[in-house]
Amino acid sequence: MKESDTFHIGVVTLSDKGSQGQRIDESGPVVRKLLEPVGYVTHDLILPDDIESIVSVLTDWSDREQLDLIVTTGGTGLSPRDVTPQATLQVIDYEIPGMAEVMRMESLKKTPHAMLSRAIVGVRKQTMIINLPGSPKAARENLEAVLPALSHALAKLAGDPSDCG
Ligand code: MTE
Repeated sequence: MKESDTFHIGVVTLSDKGSQGQRIDESGPVVRKLLEPVGYVTHDLILPDDIESIVSVLTDWSDREQLDLIVTTGGTGLSPRDVTPQATLQVIDYEIPGMAEVMRMESLKKTPHAMLSRAIVGVRKQTMIINLPGSPKAARENLEAVLPALSHALAKLAGDPSDCG
């Protein structure tokens, strides 16, 4: 069984401009910092908002790299290039609706625009995938909403047989 400090994590920033070096990625570092108590970020990438590239990385990091957690930031809204949730839905086996619900519930206390994020949380094999919105502020606020249950969720996913308290 895995201890929480051995979780391996990947962070993917989705940004057309970021991937071309036209914008500095501020959200990836925010996400990586917040995840320090959860495990090690062993993989990180900036990708364009391209559904095939996203599907390919999520699949590779789940199946071949066997990461415990992949966190994406960006591409969850309504602009024509926002495709992260569509890509995530293509690869996951099942959703964890409560985690996405709590992200929107907590975020709505900060801004009504929170209802525009279509972020998905789900599982492919033994890898959890969490979508976050793209701005550093939104990424932080959404991730902070699920952090209190995240290590427990990853331990369960990795096969922790102990009773839930
Ligand atoms: N959630 C929180 N907590 N704080 C925010 O500032 N911004 C919203 C929303 N969720 C926001 C938030 C906005 S403005 C949009 S458009 C959607 O996330 C989608 O963002 P994305 O397209 O960058 O993924």
